[in-house]
Amino acid sequence: MKRPVAIVYTSQTGFTARYAGMLARAAMIPAYDLNDRKERPAPGSPVIYLGWLRAEHIKGLAQARRHYDIQAVCAVGLSRGDQQRTEKLAAASRLGDVPLFYLRGGYAPEKVKGLDALMMKSFTKLLSKSPEGGGQPEMLELVRNGADFVSEDRLTPVLSWLEFHS
Ligand SMILES: Cc1cc2nc3c(=O)[nH]c(=O)nc-3n(C[C@H](O)[C@H](O)[C@H](O)COP(=O)(O)O)c2cc1C
Repeated sequence: MKRPVAIVYTSQTGFTARYAGMLARAAMIPAYDLNDRKERPAPGSPVIYLGWLRAEHIKGLAQARRHYDIQAVCAVGLSRGDQQRTEKLAAASRLGDVPLFYLRGGYAPEKVKGLDALMMKSFTKLLSKSPEGGGQPEMLELVRNGADFVSEDRLTPVLSWLEFHS
């Protein structure tokens, strides 16, 4: 592993950006929005990539991989998250030896627009029709009313990994 010189992130409604900011402060390295064309790390730099989860895909990961040497990935989603799901996501994302951390973000319905809003509308409909919210009873309430699970504590495994490998 090479020591990351920066954090690069993609965030649609702000949760991932907040985690990126917290991680940057804790690790004392800068954070950059992947889509910022003016300020960005030099191509090929070792970085930690943070992207939000959209339909079980880590947004921006493919683009980030083309530009940087990714040392670790954080996926930010609304679900509770568990080890099995994270392992599945790592395999589907073809991360190989690159560690993947799952961070619970939140949901801001008022900020979700266009196709994403449509997708979430049909997801909400599906949940409300299936008995007990399709096995995820709290999910219906979260997508209807929004939620914020961002906390410094959730970054502990990432910081431990960083410390151990520095
Ligand atoms: C269209 C859409 C699809 C989503 N798919 C997932 C998903 O598959 N798994 C999950 O845990 N969260 C999913 N979410 C929730 C987002 O990952 C969550 O709101 C995240 O915190 C957004 O991060 P951001 O604020 O940085 O954009 C989805 C949200 C939207 C709008």
